[in-house]
Amino acid sequence: MTLYLIGLGLADQKDISVKGLEIVKSADFIYLENYTSVLQCSKEDLEQFYNQKIILADREFTEQKTKEIIQQAKTKKVAFLVIGDPFSATTHIELFRLAQENNLKVKIINNASVLTAVGITGLQLYKFGKTTSIPFDNNDLETPYQVLKDNLSLGLHTLFLLDLKPEENRFMTLNEAIGILESIELKKKEKIIQDNTLVIGCARLGTDQFKVKVSHLKDVKSVDFGLPPHSLIIPGKLHFMEEEVLKFFK
Ligand SMILES: C[S@@+](CC[C@H](N)C(=O)[O-])C[C@H]1O[C@@H](n2cnc3c(N)ncnc32)[C@H](O)[C@@H]1O
Repeated sequence: MTLYLIGLGLADQKDISVKGLEIVKSADFIYLENYTSVLQCSKEDLEQFYNQKIILADREFTEQKTKEIIQQAKTKKVAFLVIGDPFSATTHIELFRLAQENNLKVKIINNASVLTAVGITGLQLYKFGKTTSIPFDNNDLETPYQVLKDNLSLGLHTLFLLDLKPEENRFMTLNEAIGILESIELKKKEKIIQDNTLVIGCARLGTDQFKVKVSHLKDVKSVDFGLPPHSLIIPGKLHFMEEEVLKFFK
């Protein structure tokens, strides 16, 4: 048998590829990871569209049951659904690794990811440096600030992925993320972000209700980005073509 890792894309039940849908429709067991991102539709919407039952796999479930899912996939057709792309900014490579170790065939169905959807801003994907996450638990945290500093020193753009706990309906806002960066900076007694630093706030990329707002750091704080998920970008050195597109989002 085969384990299928299927990307669902970024918007709703209709973002799955035709290939992915065919597999899901004939699968014996379907798991949906619901802890690394959120879609703009519910589990019930997906079930209705696939005409199949879905088992929710939160972080604990996935970590504890990975081996069981692999065992199950040896005799049954198992699909593991991932919001966005299976291998973009998530830890699902472990499932792939374990399956390989167990001589289980794995088929990957890729899809859109936030890592590529940020292209709508006009920023060239080639010019992004290291991507970094801002976690809720951020005491003594320096990584996102250090990543920004390193990227800026090379003139590269920085994408910050913001923490989320969908099971608690808790999603980090841009305001919180900026506040965390500012407090790290205060502790380090450095100054790389200022009130007039250009920032780009993104929400629900890849959906019809996407929002991109380009503004100065102090002004973005009063923008309502609406429903999650949200991301923050601090651009590096801008090419004039990038500047031209950014103007549409001011
Ligand atoms: C750990 S990443 C998961 C990425 C997902 N597997 C993918 O391929 O897109 C989740 C974070 O990415 C960002 N993100 C994901 N989808 C997004 C979207 N459609 N618009 C804006 N930000 C998004 C948010 O900061 C969110 O908390």
